[in-house]
Amino acid sequence: MQVKSVGTEVDLEGATLIAGVLQGLGPLPGSEDAVASVDTALFETAGFEGKSGQTMTAPHEVARALLLVGLGDEASFESIRAASGNAIRKVKTERAVSLMALVGIEEATRAVVEGSLLGGYQFRAYKTDDDSLDAESVDVVGGEESEITAATVACSATTLARDWVNTPAKDTSPASLAEMIDAATTGTGIDVEIWDRARIEEEKLGALLGVAAGSDRDPRVLILKYRPEGATKHLALVGKGITFDSGGLSLKTAAYMEEMKDDMSGAAAISAATIAMAKLGLPLNVTAIAPLTDNAVGGDATRPGDVLRPVEGPTIEVLNTDAEGRLILADGLGLAKRFEPDLTIDVATLTGAAVVALGRQVAAVFGSDSEVAEQVLEAAARAGEHFWELPLFRGYRKSIDSDIADIKNISGSRYGGAVVAAVFLAEYAGDGPWAHLDIAGPARSRETTGELVKGASGVGVRTLIEVARGMLS
Ligand code: BES
Ligand code: MN
Ligand code: ZN
Repeated sequence: MQVKSVGTEVDLEGATLIAGVLQGLGPLPGSEDAVASVDTALFETAGFEGKSGQTMTAPHEVARALLLVGLGDEASFESIRAASGNAIRKVKTERAVSLMALVGIEEATRAVVEGSLLGGYQFRAYKTDDDSLDAESVDVVGGEESEITAATVACSATTLARDWVNTPAKDTSPASLAEMIDAATTGTGIDVEIWDRARIEEEKLGALLGVAAGSDRDPRVLILKYRPEGATKHLALVGKGITFDSGGLSLKTAAYMEEMKDDMSGAAAISAATIAMAKLGLPLNVTAIAPLTDNAVGGDATRPGDVLRPVEGPTIEVLNTDAEGRLILADGLGLAKRFEPDLTIDVATLTGAAVVALGRQVAAVFGSDSEVAEQVLEAAARAGEHFWELPLFRGYRKSIDSDIADIKNISGSRYGGAVVAAVFLAEYAGDGPWAHLDIAGPARSRETTGELVKGASGVGVRTLIEVARGMLS
């Protein structure tokens, strides 16, 4: 789908005109004329009241159709984005024309772009019939051109991450996923390194190798380096790339195990975000590191009680093979330190406990200090993603003391699991500024609503882009 800016003298012939309606049928500023042209009796027949999530079509004197979309009781960035997403899925013409950027609130244009491109996202790679959405382009009346370009880059990166995550694990082996990501960097100037098993052994990434030991598919480490001219700051990103999490010998139960194909959402997010940063030409150095492996149950799989040696930092007694994300991140963070970054951020679908704490719509952020956490929270707010800070409470460090190694990978208690995992990671993150993003909840949406489509959400991509922007100011 293509989104472009148009002036107010727009050709409506054959197009669907999209207008916003507030709850109680008040038109969204900018949509007054379109809404006033509708015979009010039609609202009642359709049961349309302008509630969020509602849409209705009406005839229009010039356009092929007028699509009215509810915003609920306020006009905001979020309500316009959601309404644009709800609208785009109802469009039956190739071209849509949206009036909603005329509302006169800050960044309304971006809200229309995100709603249209993210809400209109479909994953059809494995569908035989072509019943994809009709809408192919959206003309944003009064839209700000530069805002559209920037938002389009961020949304393309988000849908790229969604595609990788939605792809069945059979087709995203560590090797294939690394290749898919490599292919997506074409033309960006990003330098790509892919380490195979031999190199990973040579580099002594013992924690990654320990997780990979149960799988017939070899692990990879993917490293993206973006080095624009004139850059002074360096951002390091580390993403959890478990290409399927069966739990290993500490096997998961069958219910929802299929969702564990999305356990590489962190790797997808950091890679897609790096690609977007390069496409936007942001003048900062970025290194994105994604350890990639299955967590499977083969004959030589790591056993509970085994001890792993990551590239750097404490040796790890593995007491539960399903707490594998923190193991591969230990190696990923160890590698990131070599680049002496100004800021390191890891992104991971790390714990079910983060889902218990914050639910499916909010991601957790932990910071090495409160300023770093604040930096991420502010970026997330600008990006329109939902993050909440949880404490990196060092008092829990004792709970992961091991009898025979330096540290163990679980505390043995159900409580505070997201915090314990973060405290574990802190052992490998070094002393510099570091943030840990646990996206286990919002990595996947269970419903199609607003800018979200059932399946992978691409959460984190837009926040990381904003973090990068923030480092430049
Ligand atoms: N990938 C899972 C975490 C997860 C759970 C992500 C639900 C998305 C939805 C992770 O590897 C895991 O299994 N964590 C365990 C850790 C436990 C054994 C300490 C968990 O959260 O149950
Ligand atoms: Mn697991
Ligand atoms: Zn996992």
